[in-house]
Amino acid sequence: MATAGVPHSYFPFSLFLLLLSSTLSSSFSASATATAEKEGKPRSLHSEILRDEAVARLNELGKVSDAVGYLERTFMSPASVRAGILIREWMEDAGLRTWVDSMGNLHGRVEGRNASAQALLIGSHMDTVVDAGIFDGSLGIISAISALKVLESNGKLGELKRPVEVIAFSDEEGVRFQSTFLGSAAVAGILPVTALNISDKSGETVQDVLTGNSIEITEGSLLEMKYDPASVWGYVELHIEQGPVLEWIGLPLAVVKGIAGQTRLKVTVRGSQGHAGTVPMSMRRDPMAAAAELIVLLESLCKRPREFLLDCGNCNEYTLESLSTSLVCTVGEISTWPSASNVIPGQVTFTVDLRAIDDVGREAVVYEISNQIYKICDRRSVSCIIERKHDANAVICDQELSTRLQSAAYTAVHRMMGEIHEEVPVLMSGAGHDAMAISHLTKVGMLFVRCRGGISHSPEEHVLDDDVWVAGIALLSFLESHM
Ligand code: GLV
Ligand code: MN
Ligand code: MN
Repeated sequence: MATAGVPHSYFPFSLFLLLLSSTLSSSFSASATATAEKEGKPRSLHSEILRDEAVARLNELGKVSDAVGYLERTFMSPASVRAGILIREWMEDAGLRTWVDSMGNLHGRVEGRNASAQALLIGSHMDTVVDAGIFDGSLGIISAISALKVLESNGKLGELKRPVEVIAFSDEEGVRFQSTFLGSAAVAGILPVTALNISDKSGETVQDVLTGNSIEITEGSLLEMKYDPASVWGYVELHIEQGPVLEWIGLPLAVVKGIAGQTRLKVTVRGSQGHAGTVPMSMRRDPMAAAAELIVLLESLCKRPREFLLDCGNCNEYTLESLSTSLVCTVGEISTWPSASNVIPGQVTFTVDLRAIDDVGREAVVYEISNQIYKICDRRSVSCIIERKHDANAVICDQELSTRLQSAAYTAVHRMMGEIHEEVPVLMSGAGHDAMAISHLTKVGMLFVRCRGGISHSPEEHVLDDDVWVAGIALLSFLESHM
């Protein structure tokens, strides 16, 4: 699993969490600017495009929300459409030809010297979680546009030796339809046509929502969206780390070695709805109490998988060890019916988000969780239904692409800071990324950018202006050296 030529370090998620409490000074930012300015470099490092304008655009995009007072942009919502209009303007400002595809993805492309050569795709997502930060997804899109704008302003855009296409994907978070990667999976050709019939909470389907936005999608046009693998050279995604390791190390950039696999479940527990004052405790079939027991069981199993997987035929020592360090499980959404304080609920529904680096291990955990859930539900005489809403296997990034990205990141950090002695670190990603879907189409590589306190999926998410700058320099350096 090691990436030859790319020194790697493996940070188990449990260590990520330990590191979360570290409060390390951000030595890079101050010294980077000082070094760059001392050497008279800011102009050559394009701070006005790669830092000032990029930061202004991130802030502007961060205000485009469906909610008042917090950031929320889900698949094809009014705010997502407004965000797309802004991003499209910025793509055109960078000299790119733009279009929106049948799944609402926004594309900006330049052909370079050879329009028939295999294209480099650079992308990330424009949708957000609820009460989101402004960098998750958007940073990758804005940095790519900024790097291309620098080439455009230097008259070098047409000299690219292969086409370069920036894609702002319409759905990575899966908040609206509980089905992540609607946009990137369609481009990769792995989105089943049945996805068009998935409904959101209001009963609107994916197809309804697209049609409502004047995008006519049919099963045929969905199948046609798949890119020809022979037309694509590779995919690069730049994203905030969403963890604390870079801050702890004191460097702004890392290369991603791989991305943990993930499964999303929806568990529905049904009991007997009744009067809170009249039904004796011994006669209740209460789905709320059952759900509470199930959620605590999930936590125990995911904290100590070895104790629960004693009979796992497919699990070897590697799997068990990998689960012990990488398995994470989250119940992030719960709803009850009818949800009133004097009613024993009739139904409780909750989601389970489960991630691990080892796919065999993740499958074993899903199996064991399901068994335990059914046992508890039997004992409590409530009925339980488990639906598998989403699965994505772990992805290992391409070795050669990672080496090139690592060298671009090194160049960027070196240009800003002067001599550095550390290697650009190599990290695993516990968060999901569009690169997972696109790995079914072409080789993928990723760069991570430091974020404050490792916090993400929160309005507290923050990236230093100078780290936005160095991220842009890294992409620019990658384009200049390899494209
Ligand atoms: C996306 O951000 C995910 O990892 O859920
Ligand atoms: Mn996210
Ligand atoms: Mn993201």
